[in-house]
Amino acid sequence: MKNIRSNLFSANRFKAFLRHFSLNIGFLFLLPALFFTGFVNGQTIKVDVDHPQAKIQPTMWGLFFEDINFAADGGLYAELIKNRSFEFPNPKTGWEFPGQNFFNSSILFVNRGAENENVRFARMKLDGTSSPQMVNTGFRGIGLKEREQYRFSVWASVATDSEMQLKIEVLDSNDQPLGVAIVEPEGTDWQKYEAVLTAGKTEAKGKLRITFEGKGSIDFDVVSLFPVNTWKNRENGLRADLVQLLADMKPGFFRFPGGCIVEGRDLEKRYQWKQTIGNIEDRKLNINRWNDENTRLTPDYFQSYGLGFYEYFLLCEDIGAEPIPVVNCGMACQFNTAEVVPLEDLDPYIQDALDLIEFANGPADSKWGKIRADMGHPEPFGMEYIGIGNEQWGMQYFERYELFENAILERSPEMKIISTTGPMASGPFFDVAERELKKYHAALVDEHYYNRPEWFLQNANRYDDYNRDTYKIFVGEYAAASKQMASPENKNTWECALAEAAFMTGLERNADVVTMASYAPLLAHVDAWQWTPDLIWFDNLKSYGTPSYYVQKMYSTSKGTVVLPVSDMGEPLTGQDGLYASASMDEESGEIFVKVVNTAPSEKNISLDLNSKSKFSETAKIEKIGTTDLEALNTIENPVNVTPKQENLPFSGKKLEVTLQANTFYVIKLKIN
Ligand code: AHR
Repeated sequence: MKNIRSNLFSANRFKAFLRHFSLNIGFLFLLPALFFTGFVNGQTIKVDVDHPQAKIQPTMWGLFFEDINFAADGGLYAELIKNRSFEFPNPKTGWEFPGQNFFNSSILFVNRGAENENVRFARMKLDGTSSPQMVNTGFRGIGLKEREQYRFSVWASVATDSEMQLKIEVLDSNDQPLGVAIVEPEGTDWQKYEAVLTAGKTEAKGKLRITFEGKGSIDFDVVSLFPVNTWKNRENGLRADLVQLLADMKPGFFRFPGGCIVEGRDLEKRYQWKQTIGNIEDRKLNINRWNDENTRLTPDYFQSYGLGFYEYFLLCEDIGAEPIPVVNCGMACQFNTAEVVPLEDLDPYIQDALDLIEFANGPADSKWGKIRADMGHPEPFGMEYIGIGNEQWGMQYFERYELFENAILERSPEMKIISTTGPMASGPFFDVAERELKKYHAALVDEHYYNRPEWFLQNANRYDDYNRDTYKIFVGEYAAASKQMASPENKNTWECALAEAAFMTGLERNADVVTMASYAPLLAHVDAWQWTPDLIWFDNLKSYGTPSYYVQKMYSTSKGTVVLPVSDMGEPLTGQDGLYASASMDEESGEIFVKVVNTAPSEKNISLDLNSKSKFSETAKIEKIGTTDLEALNTIENPVNVTPKQENLPFSGKKLEVTLQANTFYVIKLKIN
């Protein structure tokens, strides 16, 4: 990479040099001296404030969520108990039974048959002589914070003539109790029992222990433990620190639930949104498709759907993001089974899409709108977009897409449909998609690319000459990879983030055609990931944004409403001398955001030349992120190693001189007075 780039830099440097200076013999004598002193600087970057171009959509920078890397169960969804309903293929997964062996075990799992939504529950029999225990080890441990409260709950039915109590304890990794509560279930009717525990110490690898004391028999199910302090203190809520990181980005949209998870390895295991709503105890468990995908096997990875479509819409509302749901199009993952539904049997799949629109937007007395209202949200969620399929390719996709499009637009003509272009941003599948899509009415098409940093640097001009006749572009998944995708060596280095920052100048410059973009994937548990790189990493207690997170955040928090032309000698800056640039303005507030990325390994002096009749405030606010250590990372131990720094520069007139540090991304903020 470094070799390719330094060649690129020197070629560009020379071209820029020729553009800047008329070559004469006298000057040639100066040439070696100039290079020797590193003086190839002094570039003038023109920002044409008075000639705004395309509108930037409020949706421009957003989030892509997929339940991969423990992103939902074990991550954003704050439930701390794994296999809470004993519905994993082995009901004992996640549970330990200290002191019990096969011969004296008093625990059984009653299987009511697959036709029941809730197939299994647990039964504990007590003979009065011993106090059996069961321990849940959480999602690679249970995170507990000193003095924080945890809400335990369980559904139970106690046999007649039984007398018993449940001692509930949170433990540290050495099984020492950190908090205790007692629950006393009674009566044969199934009821929910609750207790709140306070943790006496912080522990990343905690456990939950239940000790059954007394005599008789108890049936129980949905054993749950949540921090009381969830996002907005909601029960069945989300992890507050993770949502905060998302909210801080002020995302324009939130794509959900994926990713390949939409497709399923086979059709039976596809994501079905109707299984993710209603009471959590009735939501049907699904195997997570990342359970045995890739080399990092995760056999305990399932989808409880506790974070389902209702919680998703609520989250979008909370953080002000436009919901972008994606539905299965009657095709399973083509990399895996390539199963398809025959065209004549596609109706139930299409109906699912129509019903989702009604669930989100229908009146509270419509069939699906009523379910939403009963869950607590009578007002519609105002969903405007729907994605059909994830990374499908070939004619088999377009045959199905057409049927979805016809049905959706007939019922909801206002809906903006998103089609896919397959898993790659070029090549035969992509070409077929480009050709076929001209026949339909997709408002946006979804492009995905995971590539090396140099690809991102070289493709910052990808959209400059793009087809603008038919649809808009949703860059639904992208990330720069330092090494082989999904491998442990593939890290969220500063080099990757810097290349993404440079590439994003091209997205912003072309905001007339690219109206949405999201980095992917979003979240990863440090002990349970399947994919690298990822935007935000977390363990059971802490979370941090990668350098890529801060780049995304700098763009989305300085979005603006219109693109401003930026040029160097009349050309957009797409890597000349290692510089990339774009600019936007918020027409309402008069704020101007100039993004400049210096990918070169040396400092540069630039002069920002503002073409405008307006006057500007006397301070330029600078937000910058960078380091010459291209391998630099953020980690759980050092989460702020590469983070943005702020400074102010005095400014008067229409020219701003800035010294750009090497390998650094700048957002220069100016304001029209
Ligand atoms: O982001 C990880 C995976 O990459 C997504 O599930 C899929 O859409 C893409 O191939």
